[in-house]
Amino acid sequence: MKNNHFICPVCGANLSLSDNGRSLICAKEIKPHCFDIASAGYINLDRSHAGGGDSKECVKSRSAFLDLGYYAPISEKINEIACNFFRLECVLLDAGCGEGYYTSALARSMPSAAVYGIDISKPAVEHAAKRAKREALTNNFYAVSSIFELPFADKSIDCITSIFAPCPEEEFRRVLKKNGILVIAAAGEKHLLGLKKALYENVYMNEERADLPDSAGFELLEKSTLSYKIRLNSGEEIANLFSMTPYYYRTSLGDKEKLASLDSLETEVEIDFSIYRKI
Ligand SMILES: C[S@@+](CC[C@H](N)C(=O)[O-])C[C@H]1O[C@@H](n2cnc3c(N)ncnc32)[C@H](O)[C@@H]1O
Ligand SMILES: [Zn+2]
Repeated sequence: MKNNHFICPVCGANLSLSDNGRSLICAKEIKPHCFDIASAGYINLDRSHAGGGDSKECVKSRSAFLDLGYYAPISEKINEIACNFFRLECVLLDAGCGEGYYTSALARSMPSAAVYGIDISKPAVEHAAKRAKREALTNNFYAVSSIFELPFADKSIDCITSIFAPCPEEEFRRVLKKNGILVIAAAGEKHLLGLKKALYENVYMNEERADLPDSAGFELLEKSTLSYKIRLNSGEEIANLFSMTPYYYRTSLGDKEKLASLDSLETEVEIDFSIYRKI
């Protein structure tokens, strides 16, 4: 965290590594604010300390599912988009990074970029930071913080990725540099249709996200869709996928039991990518 881009969430001054290397300290002259670096390697910059975001169990099942590689084409597409815009040094932020599956892949594919992951869920960020440490990714940094109050200065970020996560348009505009790029990955209309058919009698297509940027401050450069099918081969894989979807929280016990009786499942994966440029 020597040359990090974090700012102090209390006073907004730049943060730098303390002499003993165990914390980040702000540049305030009298009584600087100090944030300890957790042993996993992340920093907690959540001013509210209210916690929240994904639970430990949710993080565990999502990482078990993602590590099987079914969503690798999504990660590859995100890397491809980021590499097309930024080949050399740049500052990249994965906002709502979860347990860092996509974030760490970005750090691996862009070794000269500084890649930050921010999430409000402490267990998710801890998981992400441990992975970066294990893989010795020296360009990959994580902090617990709300993405509605990002610990970065105005106009300090080149590229933001928002993958299945909330999209605070004004805050993204604040931290992006002029001509900075925002990449949003969201569920397409047929995403996980096979899973929904296994659960429900009446199945509806997913609606388009209502919170995508619509202000004059962003120019839409490109929209594209990635579609493919996956076949899950055990009840455990199906359960892990199910528990990382919003359906997990809104499905009746009866419908959940239908899924529990399956030991294989074929389903569509369909992701809409939107690329915006900050004007
Ligand atoms: C569906 S998960 C996606 C995680 C990751 N991008 C992925 O695709 O694997 C949404 C993530 O957004 C995070 N989140 C929700 N509200 C947030 C907020 N206000 N600030 C930061 N993170 C938030 C959750 O904790 C969760 O990790
Ligand atoms: Zn401070």
